[in-house]
Amino acid sequence: MTITVAPYPNLRLRRLRQSASVRELFQENHLQPSDLILPIFIRGVENVAEIPSMPRVRRLLVDELPKEVEEAYKLGIRGVMLFPKTPEALKTENGEEAFNLNNLMCQGIKKIKQCLPKMVVFTDVALDPYTSHGHDGLLKNGDVENDSTIEVLIKQALNQVEAGADGICPSDMMDGRIQAIRNALEAKNFSNVLLISYGVKYASCFYGPFRSAVGAKLQGDKKAYQVNPANALEALREIKQDIMEGADAVIIKPGLPYLDIISQAKTYGIPLWAYQVSGEYAMIVNAALNHALDEEAAFYETCLSFKRAGASKIVTYAAKEVAKCLMKRILA
Ligand code: PBG
Repeated sequence: MTITVAPYPNLRLRRLRQSASVRELFQENHLQPSDLILPIFIRGVENVAEIPSMPRVRRLLVDELPKEVEEAYKLGIRGVMLFPKTPEALKTENGEEAFNLNNLMCQGIKKIKQCLPKMVVFTDVALDPYTSHGHDGLLKNGDVENDSTIEVLIKQALNQVEAGADGICPSDMMDGRIQAIRNALEAKNFSNVLLISYGVKYASCFYGPFRSAVGAKLQGDKKAYQVNPANALEALREIKQDIMEGADAVIIKPGLPYLDIISQAKTYGIPLWAYQVSGEYAMIVNAALNHALDEEAAFYETCLSFKRAGASKIVTYAAKEVAKCLMKRILA
């Protein structure tokens, strides 16, 4: 199709921006509270609430979860994602605490499903909050071994699902784990459990604050399983692999530095979720604390940019703050 462009002055794109109402009429993408998913850190009494690198994000005791999820629900948020800070004494080489039916993660799931069954509870599947070395799987000769790790991830996933998780999010980047977990869920009649894969997880420096939040003391790095930040083709192949293996949605992580990947994958016919990770959160909050920018506006703009790129959901530590700001805009 040949488009004949009417030149200026016939074409005046500023017409579309002349007033607030006209701008609203021409707004292409919208954010709503149900687009947001809130990650929550859970702690035992032996750990402190404050996370110095993530101002205002607190690790919560299991008993504090009902208040937090009720608040989030009232703001229109329909999903939370749980991350435990495992007590140091329970961390082991092979992360056995991940299969404990009464670990912090399972206690958290049960607590939320008891008090607010309508809230959709997602869990993280990877061994790093439970291993003494901070890697996502089982080490052999210094490397995370793919196939034996899949076996333990299945055990971990089933443990979370038996506790009541509605959806599980494998963030480990092993090859073949989505299919293996999906098969295990089917075999146990958990056919309704949502399987949201971290389709692409980059080997990123932006996870730093998260690692201190869950107390992971990583030995080495995760470059042998997380994707090289220089690669896009490989990321798209990762996403296709997880779609073929039966994922219900795919997470792209981190968010802002990888908008190109979201926008390229949006034609794949599967919901894409952007994860605005801990380092992205810290950048915005710290810049705002230093009066360099307006925090609320920065979260609103970045969340909107994920939608523009093609994401349908956004996982962000600022979910409640953004939802509040959306309510204000609706009432304004
Ligand atoms: C664990 C996991 C990580 C994050 C989510 N799940 C950290 C990592 O891979 O080291 C990071 C989330 C964030 O930074 O907010 N596999």
